[in-house]
Amino acid sequence: MPAASIEFQNVRKLYGEVAAVNGVSFTIAARSLVTLLGPSGCGKTTILRMIAGLELPTSGTIRIGEADVTRIPAAERDVSMVFQSYALFPHMSVLDNVSYGLTVSGQTRAQAHEKARSALATVGLTGLDQRLPSELSGGQQQRVAVARALVLEPAVLLFDEPLSNLDARLRRQMREEIRDLQQRLGLTVVYVTHDQSEALAVSDRIIVMDKAVIAQEGAPRELYAQPKDSFVAGFMGEANRVRGTLRRNGATDGTIALGPLSIALPHRGIADGEIDVAIRPEAIDLVAAEASPLAGTVRKAAYLGNTMEYTVDTAIGPLFVIHGRVDRPLAVGASVGVALAPHGVIAIPPG
Ligand SMILES: Nc1ncnc2c1ncn2[C@@H]1O[C@H](COP(=O)(O)OP(=O)(O)O)[C@@H](O)[C@H]1O
Ligand SMILES: [Mg+2]
Repeated sequence: MPAASIEFQNVRKLYGEVAAVNGVSFTIAARSLVTLLGPSGCGKTTILRMIAGLELPTSGTIRIGEADVTRIPAAERDVSMVFQSYALFPHMSVLDNVSYGLTVSGQTRAQAHEKARSALATVGLTGLDQRLPSELSGGQQQRVAVARALVLEPAVLLFDEPLSNLDARLRRQMREEIRDLQQRLGLTVVYVTHDQSEALAVSDRIIVMDKAVIAQEGAPRELYAQPKDSFVAGFMGEANRVRGTLRRNGATDGTIALGPLSIALPHRGIADGEIDVAIRPEAIDLVAAEASPLAGTVRKAAYLGNTMEYTVDTAIGPLFVIHGRVDRPLAVGASVGVALAPHGVIAIPPG
């Protein structure tokens, strides 16, 4: 399959006065899976539709592989899209749904059916050829939609929130299958989601969008551990926002005072003084009251089966805590000491 890279150069898309995409540049390597992540309305679908050629940019340049496709219509682009709603033809069998694109482009029915059967096998759907979409589960319909896109052997495969109609367990299974398929077939995939755990789980790289522009782009681990502002810190997972005082003591080393606690952290080039600090809930340990200088009082406690979630009032503000010790839960009102693991404490550059 001729997987291709994708490049956006300063792409804008205006709808009347509204900029749906406002000067976006990125490069997506061939055979990689890149996620566009961001809240509803930030421009994700518009970017996908411009890659597909379903919308033309107001300005800027789009390349697929070596070719400038900025003004090339959708039918000539070699891009397939899997829609959030699946968009299956309700009156057509599974086999006809998947072979439709091939027969439209002039292949014989026999050829089209053979390729469609092979695509259905690739997504783990054999033996359901003659069913109608209404006779399938949500997960099976999702697989048909993927097979229908795959059968065209596109240079680029696009997914727009493909799992949002599935329940949590199936979402996890399908996202693993999509990632597995992408790696097995060496596909270039652009994947849209507003779910950060989905993005972290499947992506080679993530492009975080906010209000029509890119907030930050990077590898999953980089975005989670080194968010460049509080929007990305908050969007890439839960984060407690507190104020701290930074003191630089070397080319990269710094010390952050958080109330009575002092933590050694990279200063990330931020100037000395008061700064915003993000604390991941899993970086907080609740210890005996006398074991830490930062005292806390448990205000809320929830049992989630594999973890406990607490809200703890402290001198640096209320902290949301995810704790692994479910066997000895803390009661509301308990006095605790609050300790921090440095790996989940992040100095946020001033915005
Ligand atoms: N066809 C359209 N006409 C007018 N405005 C649109 C159209 N499509 C999208 N928009 C606007 O552009 C912005 C981005 O939309 P969209 O790309 O669908 O966001 P997302 O997929 O991230 O939720 C939103 O403000 C939306 O209302
Ligand atoms: Mg959308």
